[in-house]
Amino acid sequence: MLGVCYYPEHWSRDVWADDAARMFAMGIRYVRIGEFAWSRLEPRPGEMHLGWLREALDVLGAAGLKVVLGTPTATPPKWLIDQHPDILPVDEKGAVRGFGSRRHTSFSAPVWLEQSRRIVEILAREFGLHPAIAGWQTDNEYGCHSTVLSYGPHDLAAFRLWLERRYGSIAALNEAWGNVFWSMELNAFSEVSLPCGAVTETNPAARLDFWRFSSDQVAAYDLMQIEIIRAHAPGRFITHNFMGFFHEFDHFKLGENLDFASWDSYPLGFVERFPFSEAERRRWAETSHPDVAPLHHDLYRGVGRGRFWVMEQQPGPVNWAPWNPIPRPGQIRLFTFEALAHGAEVVSYFRWRQASFAQEQMHAGLNLPDNSGLSPGGQEATQVGAELARLGPLPASAKADVALVFDYASSWMTRIQPQGQDFNYSELTFRWYEAARRLGLDVDIVPPGASLSGYKLVLVPSLLHVSDAAAAAFAAAAGDVLWGPRSGSKTRDFSIAASLPPGPLQELVPVRVLEVASLRPGLSLGVEGEVSGAVERWREHVVAADPADIRARFADGQAALVSKGNRHYLAGWPDAALVKSLLAAMAAKAGLGTLTLPDDVRIRHRGPWGFAFNYGTQDFTLPVDESRILLGSRNLPPSGVTVWQR
Ligand code: GAL
Repeated sequence: MLGVCYYPEHWSRDVWADDAARMFAMGIRYVRIGEFAWSRLEPRPGEMHLGWLREALDVLGAAGLKVVLGTPTATPPKWLIDQHPDILPVDEKGAVRGFGSRRHTSFSAPVWLEQSRRIVEILAREFGLHPAIAGWQTDNEYGCHSTVLSYGPHDLAAFRLWLERRYGSIAALNEAWGNVFWSMELNAFSEVSLPCGAVTETNPAARLDFWRFSSDQVAAYDLMQIEIIRAHAPGRFITHNFMGFFHEFDHFKLGENLDFASWDSYPLGFVERFPFSEAERRRWAETSHPDVAPLHHDLYRGVGRGRFWVMEQQPGPVNWAPWNPIPRPGQIRLFTFEALAHGAEVVSYFRWRQASFAQEQMHAGLNLPDNSGLSPGGQEATQVGAELARLGPLPASAKADVALVFDYASSWMTRIQPQGQDFNYSELTFRWYEAARRLGLDVDIVPPGASLSGYKLVLVPSLLHVSDAAAAAFAAAAGDVLWGPRSGSKTRDFSIAASLPPGPLQELVPVRVLEVASLRPGLSLGVEGEVSGAVERWREHVVAADPADIRARFADGQAALVSKGNRHYLAGWPDAALVKSLLAAMAAKAGLGTLTLPDDVRIRHRGPWGFAFNYGTQDFTLPVDESRILLGSRNLPPSGVTVWQR
């Protein structure tokens, strides 16, 4: 169940066999290699040097390791860019983003698509049947370094074609976008421009379509690689390594073509990146917040249709956050078990050895840069390897009782039209997820439109456009469903819902939203009734068709929570107290057993096994019979892990 990321091209051949033997001895069985090696595979146009890679595969395979081979398309070499500079992406201001790091490509440049096909085909033909290769990783972290949206001439040409296919006529596009406004009407698709560089805000419908188009380009690019690999590497899996808190393209869509999803887990780095308060950042600096990595495990299990790996696990301090603390002793082990508890099939550390050169020299590995020994993270990984060997195979994950509907388009729409500067979709979903986890609940994260059957409680923090498929899934859900602010507020074309928000959800909860207010920091409004707390950032003036459906009211008497049977609409952004009270009430109503955990302890179940994790500084006594414990003890120390049979 353990893996590691390895760069044979960074080290002398003399150490490969020793590295491989030490990996195996630690309990590592998977090694990902190759994803940035283009300049060594093809140093000059057409001059292929594949021998070293074959040798590396042979050495790793001979040691008993299974290889995940990455396609090297995140790093086209200098000669290729010099030959075809129009591969380069363009930023919103029109500046070309140049060579010198990675991901310097536009998903719409025809010559880039051709070159990608060429290199993937060469590798798939050459190594498709190599016995050491268990599977393939397409590219590396699509979209990293803000590379999904590109604003160059190739992007424009491809966008126009996409629009033409979607709308058929320019009249239909004008209508859908509302181009009569400010005289934005167009006479032909060739007049469409990219939604950037204007005097003020460009049309939100145009921006949403540009985002959808860009997301489709990523999925099409990935599918192109997948088809080539499948043709030459039968029986091998294909995955892609996604990122954390990253919504720039629809991951569910891309996941449909993969055998499973993978993601790159850097829990400490993400604490610096997520909009936590300063106090939270300080508090969680060395452990991470207890829901940061788990949210992504649950998301990517959904993207991978039940299957996921952690392809890159933080092994120590990273190099890329504003501050990069050392994880508290025990945390690397904790992160590994936390991933496994959420159903990860493999947890693969990034990277085997710290590089002493180039951009990531300050990023830890499992081994020190001089190869004199294991880093502290490497020692913890060794401990995990031994513990997993003792535990034996882990049981399969079961479906959770709670589903959280996560929607990439809602993330785009709230960024395109925030209306309140701090209406951050990522934060809203995170806070709802956190509240569910603090009650000891397991959560599945699913896309809108997915079947909701079998879930006792469905959480929809916000879903701006409710498609027909999503509406049908909500109507068919047997459990309780709770929708948050702005749900159903927009049409597919980014107009206000014809019957007023929440649009099609009015069939399920008879309310209409007449006005909305965003609230600047410091402004909030109390909520009292069956749930209590306050709203901040956002509130709505809603009218319930039947006042008897109002379950909680704002301090000014207006409806805050309206329920019809087991369908509930919340008219604002809940503060910490309200989200807690709301989730507890919903869980009770749905008949779910809950716990009251301290805010730094979490529990997660993998089939019949329970796992507990302590992100705090105090011991915690678990309400578990000592005789059922498989790993650890009832007393859960800081950074501790306990596993038991339920
Ligand atoms: C990931 C990336 C790796 C490496 C790592 C450093 O985002 O896939 O190549 O850069 O971050 O933390």
